Amino acid sequence: MSENSLQDLDMVTCTAPVNIAVIKYWGKRDEDLILPVNASLSVTLHQDHLKTTTTIACSRSFHKDCIWLNGKEQDISHPRLQSCLQEIRRLAYRRQNTGDPASDVNSVYNKVHICSVNNFPTAAGLASSAAGYACLVYTLSQLFNVEGELSGVARQGSGSACRSLYGGFVQWKLGEQSDGKDSIAEQVASELYWPELRVLILVVSAEQKSVGSTSGMHTSVETSQLLKYRADAVVPGRMEKMIRAILLRDFTTFGELTMKDSNQFHAICLDTYPPIFYLNNISHQIISLVHRYNQYYGETRVAYTFDAGPNAVIYSLHDHLPEFVEVVRHFFPPEVDKEEFFKGLPVCPVDLSEEMIRDINMKPTPNGIRYIISTKAGPGPCVVEDPKLHLLGADGLPKKSAV
Ligand code: DP6
Repeated sequence: MSENSLQDLDMVTCTAPVNIAVIKYWGKRDEDLILPVNASLSVTLHQDHLKTTTTIACSRSFHKDCIWLNGKEQDISHPRLQSCLQEIRRLAYRRQNTGDPASDVNSVYNKVHICSVNNFPTAAGLASSAAGYACLVYTLSQLFNVEGELSGVARQGSGSACRSLYGGFVQWKLGEQSDGKDSIAEQVASELYWPELRVLILVVSAEQKSVGSTSGMHTSVETSQLLKYRADAVVPGRMEKMIRAILLRDFTTFGELTMKDSNQFHAICLDTYPPIFYLNNISHQIISLVHRYNQYYGETRVAYTFDAGPNAVIYSLHDHLPEFVEVVRHFFPPEVDKEEFFKGLPVCPVDLSEEMIRDINMKPTPNGIRYIISTKAGPGPCVVEDPKLHLLGADGLPKKSAV
């Protein structure tokens, strides 16, 4: 043991996934507890391609709680971080007070060091806060031996984070209670339920930084009448239909609802005053491309969805994916190498018919898409057993590799 090793250091490392909503969460009825105005539903993406890894250590010799994100120390006093920390500690104390022998008496009172990294570029504008808060809460719960429902805690870090606590297809229930106890995530079907479903993330070249989700949805709640209509009259029915489509593995319905819901969310953004623009020209071209491609076949073979930024997430089925990847490459020809342009689950190369290219009838936009990540549905958070993979060293500080 080196001279800086801490004798009582307790350490856990876990990973958590990103999720992409097909019925969007947009708007809070309670901003402190993060309670939504509508239910939502997402697909958890595979951690082989997108994940957050978090190591948390506790020791008597730590003087204060500290956090490092992607190598940089951050302010631990952030209210949402504090909500998650306090809530897990409260659950751990409660467990201790009931005399549960599995709870560790000392560690709960110790300060923690938290170190977290993403395996995807933060600049790509992907939903990193969902994976980040899910991973924080899950890792804390492992360290302090807290069991049971955790999505209500992750929700208080970032709304969409509650859905990243489960794999596969996950709904975040609206709930009715004012304390938020029933506004939690639940798995609709596991990641193995619909193995043919595939996901492509089209990372679009974005110049400007857009309005963050938190402030964007705040302004929408204040100003958009369409948001109220959506929450009351549209989402309840859509949730039911979407769950049914997933359980029946009905891609046509799944894809159509996904596209309509994305469009309605962006319509709310336009209905917000002043309006919010998340989609750019390339996003609009991707929307046209998907519709023209589906029209060529006379069926919904691919579906798009967009969050609070210009990147597209495409859902499709395994058999239809290779051709659509080639279509994307044709209409957004990259300058970079093949390997740099296409990451993740490989697809077989295919030739495109000239008739289809002619029928789609769009002008190619070189470099409109920076790269593609190809993935599928995946599992929820996992514990990393190999101690070599801890992001904190025996001295409780970030290892060089985590910086
Ligand atoms: C467009 O969960 O990031 O991605 O609760 O304020 O942290 P806060 O917002 P956040 O919002 C995500 C919005 C969305 C849609 C979705 O994921 O459902």
